[in-house]
Parts: sequence; structure tokens; C-alpha cells
Amino acid sequence: MQTLIIGIGLEERDINSDIKYNSIIHKYENKFLKIIKTIHPNGLENGVASKSSHCSYCAEILVKYYENNLKFFYNHAMITKDMSSRLLFRFAANHRQSLGLLKNVQLAFKRSSATVPLKTPLPPLSNGAKQRIGLWLACSAGMTAGAVALGGITRLTESGLSMTNWHWLNDMNPPRTAEAWQEEFERYKRFPEFEQMNREMTLHEFKKIYYMEFAHRMWGRATGLIFIVPAFMFWRRGLFDKGMKIRVLIFGSLIAAQGALGWYMVKSGLHKETLIDGRASVSPYRLAAHLGTAFILYSGLLWNSFKYLTKPDVYASTRVPRGWAIGVHGLLTLTFLTVVAGAFVAGLDAGLVYPTFPKMGDYWIPPEYSTLTPWYRNIFENPVAVQFNHRVLGLTTTAAVLTFSLASLSVKFGRRAAVARNLLAAMVIVQTSLGIGTLLYHVPISMAAAHQSGSLALLSFALWLAFNLKRVPKI
Ligand code: HEM
Repeated sequence: MQTLIIGIGLEERDINSDIKYNSIIHKYENKFLKIIKTIHPNGLENGVASKSSHCSYCAEILVKYYENNLKFFYNHAMITKDMSSRLLFRFAANHRQSLGLLKNVQLAFKRSSATVPLKTPLPPLSNGAKQRIGLWLACSAGMTAGAVALGGITRLTESGLSMTNWHWLNDMNPPRTAEAWQEEFERYKRFPEFEQMNREMTLHEFKKIYYMEFAHRMWGRATGLIFIVPAFMFWRRGLFDKGMKIRVLIFGSLIAAQGALGWYMVKSGLHKETLIDGRASVSPYRLAAHLGTAFILYSGLLWNSFKYLTKPDVYASTRVPRGWAIGVHGLLTLTFLTVVAGAFVAGLDAGLVYPTFPKMGDYWIPPEYSTLTPWYRNIFENPVAVQFNHRVLGLTTTAAVLTFSLASLSVKFGRRAAVARNLLAAMVIVQTSLGIGTLLYHVPISMAAAHQSGSLALLSFALWLAFNLKRVPKI
């Protein structure tokens, strides 16, 4: 019973509504996970008097509630009539039935049937299965975060252009003999990075950057395996519903796409024709796409792991006004835009121009902001504009998170949401400080890497907050 949610459909025009509601609460409180009170407004369009339209109305609200909040926790729906309290709905619906649910509910009431079990396409998942799926998704998210961090260090140590070939199988075999190493090194020497930056490089130094890039590539493959093998097993055991199957296919494709995108990015730094201003560095566009896709994948995996590993904070979400739940999505969007803008800073080494804060040199808006034509190229290709935009976005995100956090202190968030909000506020301060430090100290590797990983932590707290403040219909 404690896993069920009850909807009570009351009528606005019924003067005894409150008495009925109180008697139900008296009788059933603590017996259910939640009791939702709905009051069918008088004279609502499409409501036919004496046709149980208040029940349909209640069902509609419950369906929305289930769609928004409880997608994975309930697997059947049931409607009962309780004569002492007139009509009482009992729902335990799964998201995948919710579209058909309303129809069934209405049909059931037309027939005045007492109990209508709905068809369940899948057996309900046991707690153990939910845990296993959730842990698998969390692990895959963790591996993705690790890949991002390793990728950042690879870039910062200027190791990313050391492996000048790509093959999904052969890559796993680094050179083993002295001759093979020498051959690989000679190959590297033919590319612009060696000519422009590493003319003095020894074989020993080459091995170091090679192994860095190798570790990143192997980590990517391990991420793919850790995702795909359990996915296959869960799928075969029929543990995924249709929505999850689609998501698993999307995540799998994104992981595969990351491999291809990574090589596409590296290629742009190897060949003279694709270099920007002849600089031996990868295309900032491709770098931003590679990093942006990693963040999208990470967010999707993490969000879905929350769904399997936690029960929704029902108490919290029903009491927090909608605006806050919508507001968190604004914070998520701002964070994501700042991340993408940060990728362009990294891609153009734009952190090295104007290493001053808060002004850029003597200016609030530097004079070189718009030197390229057409103007929009500045946003992506002009280091000064790129750094300026990232600063402004970063500071805006910081201000927005702090304003949200302070303003929401007057609202009663549930415990989990409150913890997430506090962590988010603390993290945004750390993240911005790291960003400013990275700038002032001319992009030291450790600080820049921490700034990059910090953005993952920030995004995680924002997602956790959004998850715990999911929007629910007004009731
Ligand atoms: C919410 C705030 C912020 C977020 C989420 C954020 C995120 C990021 C990300 C994802 C990168 C790319 C890192 C990489 O791929 O290696 C980056 C780079 C950078 N950010 Fe931020 N940033 C924020 C605020 C700031 C601020 C306020 C500043 C300075 C005023 C700043 C300065 C930099 C610099 C200099 C880089 C380039 C570092 C490099 O070359 O590796 N960031 N940022």
C-alpha cells in the first residue's frame, strides 16, 4: 500500500467536499505514499454532469503527475469505488501506460466497473533490477566524466596530436619494440605540431605524450564496453521499456559518435589545410562539439541513473511552486552555454589573452572584440571575443545560481533538493574562482584541469536539483 498514490476526485459544487476529504484522510493517512486532492471546477468545458467528470478530471491530474514524476516506479493502474467516501481512485500507473490510462479510466467509469486492471506490457522491475540498472548508468556517467577529465589533461599537456592514426582495434596496440617506437616518432615528425612546437622533442618525451593520448583513447573504449555489455544483457532480459530502449540506443550512438568525433577533431590539427591561421591546433568548432556531446551524454546517463536509483522526493516536489522547477532548467541551460563557450576558449587558447580580471587590460569591453568579418565569426574564432563571452556567461551563471539559491531560501524545499541547492551554490563559487585563477595564472595545467572537471560537478548538482524539483501539476 505504501507504494500507492491515491487521487481523490472532489466536486467544487459539492458543499460536503471538505467533510468527505477529511474523512478519507482520517481513514487512509499513512496507508499510502501520497494522497492527492483534486477539486473538479464547476462548469468546466467538456464536463458532463452526472457522468463522473470529476473522476476523469482527477484521473487527468494523476496521469500528468505520473508522467512528470513517477515514470519508473509503478506498473499497474487500478480504479476502485469506495462507497463510504463516494468515489476514490487508486492508481499505480507506469508512464508507458499513461496515454492509454485516461481512456481506460473514463471507460471504466462509464461502465461503472469497480476495478479495472490495465494490461502491463512489462513486469514491474524488482528493486534489485532497478538498482543494477541505476548503478550501470551511474558507472557509465562516471566513466564519461573520467573521459572528459582525461581529455582535458590530454589537451592541456599538448598530447592530443601525438597519435597520428586512428583505428578502433589497432589503436589498442601501442608500439612495443624500439624500432616500432622510432617509426611512430618519425611519423609524428611529419605533422605540423612537431615542426612548429616540438622540434627539440626526444623519443622519451614523445612516448609521454603518446601514452597520454593512448590513455584517453583506451578510456573511451572502456566507457563504451562498460555501457554496451550490461545494456545488451538488460535488454535481453526484457528489463527495458520502450522509452528506455530508445534512450539506450541514443546513449550507445552518442558514445560511438564520440569516438568518431574525437578523431575528426584530431584530424583537423594534423593537416595543414584544416589549420586555423596555420596554427598546429585542433579546430575549436570540433573541440566544442566533442566536449559538448560528452556533456550531453553525461547529463543523460546521470539523469537516468537518478530515476532508477532514487524514489522521487514527492513531499518536496508537490510543495514547491512551479516557477522554481522551471528556474532550475534556466540554470542548466546557462551552465551548458558557459561550458560550450569554455570549450571555444580552450580550443583557441583564448585563456592566454588578457590575463587580467575583472577588466580585460584597461577595458571592460576590449577594442578587439569585433575584428573579424562577418561579425559572427568573432563569437567562435576571435580569442578576445571568445574569452569575453565566456567570462560574461560564467559570471551570469554564477549570479543566476546565487540569486536562485538565496531567493529559494524562503521556499520549503525537500531535504534532497535543499542539499543540492546548497552544493550548487558552493560549487559555482569554486568554479568561478578556478576560472579566474586559470586566467590570472596563464592557464596552469592543474588549475585548468580542475576548472574543467568543476564544470562537470556543477552540472551534476544542477541536474540533481532539477531532478528533485520536477514540475508537478497544480493540485
Ligand atoms: C559557471 C561558470 C563557469 C563554467 C561552467 C566554466 C566552464 C568552462 C569549461 C567547460 C571550459 C573548457 C575547459 C576545457 O575543455 O579544457 C572552460 C575554460 C576556461 N574558462 Fe571557464 N567556466 C566558468 C567560469 C569562468 C570564469 C568566470 C572565468 C574567468 C573569468 C573562466 C575562465 C576560463 C578559462 C581561462 C578557460 C580556458 C582554460 C583552458 O585553456 O583550458 N571560466 N570553462
